[in-house]
Amino acid sequence: MSRSARLVPAAAALLALAVTGTACDGGVHGTPGGSGVRDPYFPKAGNGGYDVTHYALTLDYTPGTRHLTGKAVITARATKDLSAFDLDLSGLDVDSVTVEGKRARWNRAGQELTVRPHDDLDQGETFRTTVRYAGTPKTLTDPDGSEEGWLPTADGALALGEPVGSMAWFPGNNHPSDKATYDITVTVPKGLQAVSNGELTSQRTKGGRTTFAWHSAQPMAGYLAVVAIGHYDITHTTGPHGLPVLTAVDPTQAEAGKVLAKIPDIIDWEETNFGPYPFSSTGAIVDRPGDAGYALETQTRPVFPADQLDTSTLVHELAHQWYGDSVTPKSWRDMWLNEGFATYAEWLYAEDHGGKSAQQTFTDLYEGDDEDIWAFPPAKPSGAAHISDSPVYQRGAMVLQKIRQKVGDDTFYDIIQGWAAAHRYGTVDTADFTAYVEKKAPDKDFGEIWKDWLYGNGKPDHP
Ligand code: TRP
Ligand code: ZN
Repeated sequence: MSRSARLVPAAAALLALAVTGTACDGGVHGTPGGSGVRDPYFPKAGNGGYDVTHYALTLDYTPGTRHLTGKAVITARATKDLSAFDLDLSGLDVDSVTVEGKRARWNRAGQELTVRPHDDLDQGETFRTTVRYAGTPKTLTDPDGSEEGWLPTADGALALGEPVGSMAWFPGNNHPSDKATYDITVTVPKGLQAVSNGELTSQRTKGGRTTFAWHSAQPMAGYLAVVAIGHYDITHTTGPHGLPVLTAVDPTQAEAGKVLAKIPDIIDWEETNFGPYPFSSTGAIVDRPGDAGYALETQTRPVFPADQLDTSTLVHELAHQWYGDSVTPKSWRDMWLNEGFATYAEWLYAEDHGGKSAQQTFTDLYEGDDEDIWAFPPAKPSGAAHISDSPVYQRGAMVLQKIRQKVGDDTFYDIIQGWAAAHRYGTVDTADFTAYVEKKAPDKDFGEIWKDWLYGNGKPDHP
């Protein structure tokens, strides 16, 4: 039962008035924050009226029963006077909500958890919301049919969030435009491991259960949060300049170690090409084929089903740490800024390691018979079901090759490194990118590249 269902009618009427902003106790001025951030592809994702700065998630999970207990402490800053605000949460039962330590009223409608704090929040105020919840977390199906959210596995679970799956396991502002730091603490039955983003700050076993505390010190979009619960062989190594590398491999997939051993060299190569690695640790999580249907660039620790782990995919997911994770799209329309770059990283890696040149890959695609690439322009996917189709990946990468053709290698590398540096830990859109490129090469005309390759329908007339 939702909390508002328990209110007596008078209180419910007052709540209704308060939510419209006309009858707040204390005579304040706040209005509701809004139930989305107008993402063109996922209109209900995210919420208005506040910015989260930190999530402290405390989770307890038992694979045998699939029962999750959670506490989310969300520190946020009000961006306007608020009488109420929304969090996104799909499934699970909410037990209580407090704001600044006082019990708050709340109700649920679909993925919106609307919270009405006891006291209105003032614009600029930092406030702390605590949500206690429990239940069996859901697996969500993406518009393109792939699965995300909470994925039960043979010996545990895998929590993955692109594009909107994080709301299946914690309440929050479920949109890449609002990044925050995270502490993710997970308790599981003794003998299992729980791996997440960032660095492990403590591990202790008590009463037959083990608690793993993970800290992400650099801002992260919610879709990049990961929790992997199960049996894992954990390896600690170091990469360039002592960067900690932590890999977690399902014991039945030990062969993965051969590819993962390349992480330090790949990070080193990527730093040469993209600039300093943006986070305080790196690594990977490898699960069994089918545990997830795809690899994902979860921050500091990308996830691979073992059948999708090869050098090129590793290069791709690690390149996302710069492009996607550190420099994050403001909306799901700008996915090509993730996938075009990560795909181009694969092309460049091949070029630098005795394979095809990026120009040759470009030419082969242009002359090849895969018509899907031309289905829509990279900067305007034809719907939520298509944000991970080949125009976003391949044609997105072709845009970068077109820029390289126009400016030459020196300026091109300045652009891709400078872009990662200028927007480190931030959020960006396509207009930010085209403006950045134009600023870096003021004597060049990019008009046709933008018109034909980035925004234009159909196959451009010239390669
Ligand atoms: N971002 C992943 C990658 O290319 C692919 C992916 C997994 C994806 N799930 C998605 C893309 C959901 C878009 C939407 O590394
Ligand atoms: Zn990708």
